[in-house]
Parts: sequence; C-alpha cells; structure tokens
Amino acid sequence: MSEAQTAVEKEQFRRYILRLRDRQSTRDIEQKSMEIMDQVLHLNEYVRARGIACYVSKDSEVDTRRLIRKALDAHKRVLVPVVKKGDIDLFFSEIKDLGKELAPGSFNIPEPKAEYLRPASLDAVDVLFVPGIVWDKEGYRLGWGRGYFDRVLKTLPEHVRSIGLSFNLQLVNRVPRDQFDLPVNTVVTESRVVRCHS
Ligand SMILES: Nc1ncnc2c1ncn2[C@@H]1O[C@H](COP(=O)(O)OP(=O)(O)OP(=O)(O)O)[C@@H](O)[C@H]1O
Ligand SMILES: [Mg+2]
Repeated sequence: MSEAQTAVEKEQFRRYILRLRDRQSTRDIEQKSMEIMDQVLHLNEYVRARGIACYVSKDSEVDTRRLIRKALDAHKRVLVPVVKKGDIDLFFSEIKDLGKELAPGSFNIPEPKAEYLRPASLDAVDVLFVPGIVWDKEGYRLGWGRGYFDRVLKTLPEHVRSIGLSFNLQLVNRVPRDQFDLPVNTVVTESRVVRCHS
C-alpha cells in the first residue's frame, strides 16, 4: 500500500473510532477508566516503577487523573508531556500536585503552568503511559496524526516500558502502519491486559 493510501486509511480509522469514543457518556468514561486503572495499578511494571510518565486526559480519553494521583500519593515521580508551540518534539515535565499546577495548553491539553515547569528526562521513569485513538493487539496505535508519540517511542530509554490505555471499543484487528509507527509493549483495556512486544 502506498504512503498516501495508508494516510487515508488512518484518517478513516481515526474518525470512525473517535466518534464511538466520543459517544460514550461521562458516566461510562468514568466507570471504564476506573476498571482500566484497577488493572494498571496491579501491573508489576507499575508497582515497581519509581517514576511514571503519563498523559493528562481530556474529553473522551481514558481518564488518567486517578492514576496520576495514586502515583503521587505513592511517592512515585510523575512526568507529563508538554507541547511547545512550533516544536515537533514533546518534552516532559515533573508535576507534584495535579490540582493546582495544570492549565489548558497547546491543543487545549492540560499542561503545567509556566511557574510549575520542571523539565525532566524520561530516564527518571520506568513506565510511559501512551494515549491513542485506535489500538491493535500488537500494540500499534493511531493518535492525532502529528507523530509526537512515535518520536517519543523512538527515543525511549531502553529500561522504560510503554503501556497504551484504551477502551475496548478502540481496539481493532490491525491498525494501518507505516515506516515511523512503533508499537507499545502492553495495551490495557477494561477487560484485558494485552502483552504485545517485550
Ligand atoms: N520518527 C519520526 N521521524 C520523522 N517523522 C515522523 C516520525 N514519526 C512520525 N513521523 C511523521 O509524523 C506524521 C504523523 O504520524 P502518524 O500519522 O503516525 O501520527 P500518529 O501516530 O497518529 O500521531 P501521534 O503520535 O501524535 O499521536 C507522519 O507524517 C510521520 O511520517
Ligand atoms: Mg503513528
């Protein structure tokens, strides 16, 4: 398949699954996110982690706030992604208080306010939680189509495990792939922990 065809297929998948994800009630999103977090909190790699990097959820994404709070309560270091306008790479910043340090940033994603920016390397964490719109059982994913997380996964320190968070309805047979797409190690849904690549 040509690159152009793959891009069209990716866009169709994104739109279709995003509509399903958006159609869930707030109550559903809360309930399912809770189930996903119950699985995550028992994963060996999470329990052992001294630090985690985790996206801050918005809209119909799997809600990560409970996970971030639990990690902070357990005295794990918590890094969140930050997008600098015009930059093609994300960077990560450490947060210490979910309640007071964040405000809507690029793309309206909650990010640390300027006075709470504490840039940190992913060397400081053992697990990276990855957002996505579409996932498959081999750990391949589609995000918003900007390639941010492909570039993060490409430069991820070897010791860091990557975990995708997904509602069951976001999991498909096979996500269209091209040369830069990289899979995560594990995908967690409400009902499954899918081990993909080690
Ligand atoms: N490692 C990389 N080096 C250069 N370009 C890249 C790299 N990774 C991705 N890209 C480019 O980024 C663009 C978006 O990629 P893709 O459609 O896979 O996004 P995505 O994975 O859905 O988005 P995101 O990772 O932001 O959630 C593509 O044009 C792709 O070629
Ligand atoms: Mg990609």
